[in-house]
Amino acid sequence: MDSKVVERGALENEKETPQEQEQEQVVNPWEVAAKDGGKIDYDKLIDKFGCQRLDPSFIDRVERLTSRRAHVFLRRGVFFAHRDFNEILNAYERGEKFYLYTGRGPSSEALHLGHLIPFMFTQYLQEAFKVPLVIQLTDDEKFLWKNLTVEESRRLARENAKDIIACGFDIRRTFIFSDFDYVGGAFYRNMVEISKRVTCNQVVGIFGFIGEDHIGKYSFPPVQAAPSFPSSFPHLFSGKDNLRCLIPCAIDQDPYFRMTRDVAPRIGYHKPALIESLFFPALQGETGKMSASDPNSAIYVTDSEKVIKNKINKYAFSGGQDSIEKHRQLGANLEVDIPIKYLSFFLEDDAELEHTKKEYGSGRMLTGEVKQRLIEVLTKLVERHRRARAAVTDEMVDAFMAVRPLPNMFN
Ligand code: TYM
Repeated sequence: MDSKVVERGALENEKETPQEQEQEQVVNPWEVAAKDGGKIDYDKLIDKFGCQRLDPSFIDRVERLTSRRAHVFLRRGVFFAHRDFNEILNAYERGEKFYLYTGRGPSSEALHLGHLIPFMFTQYLQEAFKVPLVIQLTDDEKFLWKNLTVEESRRLARENAKDIIACGFDIRRTFIFSDFDYVGGAFYRNMVEISKRVTCNQVVGIFGFIGEDHIGKYSFPPVQAAPSFPSSFPHLFSGKDNLRCLIPCAIDQDPYFRMTRDVAPRIGYHKPALIESLFFPALQGETGKMSASDPNSAIYVTDSEKVIKNKINKYAFSGGQDSIEKHRQLGANLEVDIPIKYLSFFLEDDAELEHTKKEYGSGRMLTGEVKQRLIEVLTKLVERHRRARAAVTDEMVDAFMAVRPLPNMFN
């Protein structure tokens, strides 16, 4: 990890002085760590970043506009913050369409369950709103930040594209691109328009880069910003410079888009809107994101049933009591319990989740029983993903990544 400084709320809504930032939780695209081993304070993060909480009225509105039940991640507050999501819905209500933009930094062969969250949610948004989607694979970012060769990052980008396609995206509405292959032309012109309007002081403020960092890092943020503008994709959105963009992601990516939103009106575009999720926590507890360097901190889409079972039984932090007697008497502390947290992301049945929380919280249900249910839920999810991924051929990857018009993308 190179830039371990605390991210500052630069540009939009600068709120904290350097003194206040000391001893803070750290949340930026490269590091997520709670203060003193506690939990991430999302209220504080919203305040500091200057985004808005996604209140329950949005759920009703989305259900009304799409005529279908809201995704479980929306109903349960997994996607909990936004920027201008109301503007997207207002425009949609007026009959205007928008496009979705999300991405992945291909730093490893296998995705963990946390990585799946924005893609599962984006797939739902695409299907519910019937809108086009661009997915950026930042193989250049991972080359710049990690110890990877250009060739290896390109290979990982294609491998990760298979996992992404396995989430069920509609090829008639989806363009996946790798930066190494696609950057140029109109996309590059937008990059330089953006670069010219962001100073070194600003990127230092937003991302915490230091003087010793190589200039590759300083030059990267416009690459992640450019897909927020429709003119970066002339084969899709030619003549549609007014098209709005909605970005689903976890809140760690917010700094990139604060910068983008600051520049947008100065180069004649709408500010991209965002819908942002909590972090799916590590097995060991809710202190941060899962870590690629510790394979036992996360469940991967490549984990076998046996591995999933072992990881959950051995590592998932339990809020249950030390002895059965004490547990029956006091019940589990659901606030810190990881199996319950994981179930609240992935157990679809609202009634079963509520029942489990009640029984476990009162001590009638034991940790082992909750873990067993979680093992079933996650094994099913991972198996389904594995089957879908095995069906993704190289030809399909080429087809999703071909620079081509999508004539039916709004139908
Ligand atoms: P990356 O590859 O680190 O993460 C991919 C997506 O997964 C989200 N994410 C998580 N969500 C929930 N819980 C977690 N524990 C968790 N860990 C990661 C990330 O927020 C992200 O949405 N620079 C980006 C790639 C990118 C991108 C984008 C992401 C390029 N353009 C536009 C979002 C939107 C990256 O390295 O993501």
